[in-house]
This record gives sequence, structure tokens and C-alpha cells, in this order.
Amino acid sequence: METNLAVKLSANENCYGCSPKALEAIRAKVGGVSFYPEVNPVALKEKLAEKYGVTTGNIIVGAGSVRIIDGLIQTFVKEGEEVLTFEKSFVAYGQLSGFHQRTCRFAPLKNFRCVPENLLPFISDKTRLIFIANPNNPTGTMISHAELENLLKTIPRNVIVTIDEAYSEYVTDATFPDSILLQKKYPNLVILHSFSKIYGLAGLRIGYAIMDDKLAARMAEGQIPFSLNYLSSAAALAALEDESFIIQSARVNADERNVLYRELNSHGIHVLPSQSNFMYMWFEEEGEKKKVYDLLFKNGILVCDMKIFGQENALRITVGDHETNNKMVRILTE
Ligand SMILES: Cc1ncc(COP(=O)(O)O)c(C=O)c1O
Repeated sequence: METNLAVKLSANENCYGCSPKALEAIRAKVGGVSFYPEVNPVALKEKLAEKYGVTTGNIIVGAGSVRIIDGLIQTFVKEGEEVLTFEKSFVAYGQLSGFHQRTCRFAPLKNFRCVPENLLPFISDKTRLIFIANPNNPTGTMISHAELENLLKTIPRNVIVTIDEAYSEYVTDATFPDSILLQKKYPNLVILHSFSKIYGLAGLRIGYAIMDDKLAARMAEGQIPFSLNYLSSAAALAALEDESFIIQSARVNADERNVLYRELNSHGIHVLPSQSNFMYMWFEEEGEKKKVYDLLFKNGILVCDMKIFGQENALRITVGDHETNNKMVRILTE
């Protein structure tokens, strides 16, 4: 198909790039790439510890949060034990369980939401690790503080619950979990974060997790030395220090997300309200979805066809900037 691809709205990256301070930090270090990176990114861990009111012993930094997801499965799920997550959620949970030859069970969503009560029938003596993306990718829906705490109260303490907050900075709903507060109360809660989304550093591969120090020590034993690259921790540190870039990205995203939702919805397109920087669009039939995908592609906009994740009738669209969103609405509604 002929196209003049101009905008990528398929992977939920920050359409405003990254903080100029992060770029400065990268430029300042780029001449040193012939050196190995630090084994332990101390300065970044100290900054994260200060941000969350925890100690550096509670923090694991990895080459992208997918690498930490991989490490959690590898470290904590023994042969014969199981991982549990939701269907229509981040594909890596099931994929990486498969790589490690561990069974991953999938609980159904309820009205496109990952309601924790739907996990309960799937929990058995074998369940060792639960993944909940919050907000969920691809639906953009979220669970509340009360829902997460109820789950933590209910399940055995030897089941680790990982709440994946890759998109948490985009949330505007005040009932979003204070997961740090819960982590201090429930040591089996692990909180996962990424620098690939609002921080705009997807290409540098860096993410982190906050967890009980004994769990972190076990994870650290299995970490591959030098797996972070020479530039990533300095860029992440600078990105963390530039709070105004994050606040501004979140604010503009929330405004654009509202407009996009309202416009698409008012033209009869099925789109879910989102707490993230992407939206889930679904169709009665695959043919209808394909038509929309092709139309956007022909006009230079690449969105994510959820067919590759087994959802034939859905698209996931990253919220773009004002100009892109206007263009998309125009194309879809004309
Ligand atoms: C819910 C969720 N978690 C984690 C990731 C991966 O992030 P990273 O780039 O840090 O590996 C993604 C990426 O799309 C995601 O959607």
C-alpha cells in the first residue's frame, strides 16, 4: 500500500520526545561509549529512593521493564508453579512466562477492566506471581486503591503481586492506587515502572521496580552484569529531575485524550475512556477495523492493529499531539 508515513501512534511512546535535560545528559556522555557501563546505577537508585521514600535496597533497575518482568518470572516462579494475569493485557507477561516454560493463566476482563476479583478463581497453590498492568495496556482502564488493597488482603502472602505502572504518570483519576503506601504494608507487592513512556527514553531501554528488600536482593543475584547501557542511567536521572517536562506531557496528554475521546465517541466510533496515553477502539467486525487501519495508514498514521495480540476487531491508538489528533479525527469522521 502506498503511504507517506509521518506519525507512529502504535507503541505508546511520548509524542513530545524526552526532556531536553535528558538529551543534554546523553550528549555529555556519548563520547564515553567505549567504556562499560556501571554495574550498579547508584546515583539513579538514590534519586528513585528519595522520590518514593524507600531505600536503594528496595530498587531494581533493569534494561527496560520487560527485562524486570523476565527477571521476576525467572527468580520467583519455580518449575510447576504459575503466573497469573488478565487476558487482553500486556503481552509480555504471557510471552515471557512461555520462554521460561512456566504456565501463565489468564483471567477475563469485566467491561474491559482488570477487576482483581476475576483473578480469585484462578489462584491455586501453584500461583506464585500475578501481573496487573495499571493502567492496562491495551484498554487504558485502571483499578483503584481499594480494589488493589482488597486483593492484597485476600490472597496468600507467598503470591507476589506485580502492579505494572508503566503509564501511571498519565493517570488523572484520584482513586488510582498509592502503591508505595500499599507496598509498605504488603511486602508481596512489587511496583514496576518504565522510562519508555512519559519519560520518552524507550530507545535507551531502562525501567525499574520497587519491592521488599529481600525480594530485591534475590532479584539482584540473577541480574546480568553490564546489561544497562552506558547512556541510560544518566539520561534517566536527568529525565527524573526534569519534573516540569513530565507534568507538561501529562497535562497536554489529558487534554488531547479528552478531545479525542469526545470527538470519536460523538461520531459513533467505539472508543474506551482512557487513563493513559493511548485509546482502545473496537469494531463489530474485523473488516470494519481493517478499513479504519488502512485509511489511517494511507494518510501517514500508523496505529497498532491488535490482531497481532489476538484481538482481531480492535485497534490501539497512541494519543498524539494536537495537530495529529485533529488530522485523525478529520480522516475518521469525514
Ligand atoms: C504495561 C506495560 N508494561 C511494560 C512495558 C514495557 O516497557 P519497557 O520499554 O520499559 O520494557 C510496556 C510497553 O509497551 C507496557 O505497555
